[in-house]
Amino acid sequence: MVKDLSVELCGIRLQNPVIPASGTFGFGLELEESFDLNCLGGISLKGSTREARYGNSLPRIADCDGGMLNSVGLQNPGIDALVNEKIPALRKIFNQAVIANISGFSIEEYEDCCAKADACEGIDILEVNISCPNVRHGGMAFGTDPKAAAEVTKAAREASRKPLFIKLSPNVTDIVEIARAVEDAGADGLTLVNTFLGMRIDIARRKPVLANTMGGFSGKAIFPIALRMVYQVAHACKIPIMGCGGVSRAEDVIEMMMAGATAVQVGAQNIRNPFACPEIINELPEVMDRLGIQSLKEIIGSV
Ligand code: FUM
Repeated sequence: MVKDLSVELCGIRLQNPVIPASGTFGFGLELEESFDLNCLGGISLKGSTREARYGNSLPRIADCDGGMLNSVGLQNPGIDALVNEKIPALRKIFNQAVIANISGFSIEEYEDCCAKADACEGIDILEVNISCPNVRHGGMAFGTDPKAAAEVTKAAREASRKPLFIKLSPNVTDIVEIARAVEDAGADGLTLVNTFLGMRIDIARRKPVLANTMGGFSGKAIFPIALRMVYQVAHACKIPIMGCGGVSRAEDVIEMMMAGATAVQVGAQNIRNPFACPEIINELPEVMDRLGIQSLKEIIGSV
């Protein structure tokens, strides 16, 4: 029997729940020749800031058992290039959900960027990133304090009428407290979780591997922790969740959805295997069949 992979996210129908996570898939255009992007549920684009940014010094990637560290530092061409160049080019080849990831260093910057993204027709969902661990000011600082998280959310809410997701940091004691603050401030949904602050040392050089010393850890090793956070927040909040963190196969997508995610983002696995998302989407019907699942919608939050 044909399986139903579709889900609904804030009134937007996704043909399947699989979405490449921000920062692991560029602006989609880079992968255009590798496979037909229209098999995806949507794409979360690289985070945009008000000004173009080069990012942090090299090296900014470190391989680790079970994952990787990155300290990219929000390299991006700026919000104007996103709305005037990247989105129009992507829309010529892509007709699924487009998620603009917005980062910032001040409330005003988040507000300006959200207003520009709101006015851009090709963007379906805003994902406001208050969880980047790789910049000194802003970023994760907004996502580790419930008051600051609520303030950014309010400003983004006032600047945009599009579905507003807030991407949360796992580097907190109680993620539920932050999630509730963001929900109360007007968010339509949550993306959980960004990367875990980590570090490696080159023992021969006696120096940190990353030029920025620390970076965000992602990959298979974080899956159980991300899953636990999705489960906790799903039981405490009413708004939908895009689950993210260590997802690398179809079974992980199903597990995230059972924990409470409506859609699932694939991150570090795209760096290891650019075909990860289409492979997961192709595997889903067979795994659903094995588990007696007819429609993915029926398993959301079923545990
Ligand atoms: O450093 C970066 O560009 C990563 C951003 C993030 O993890 O949100």
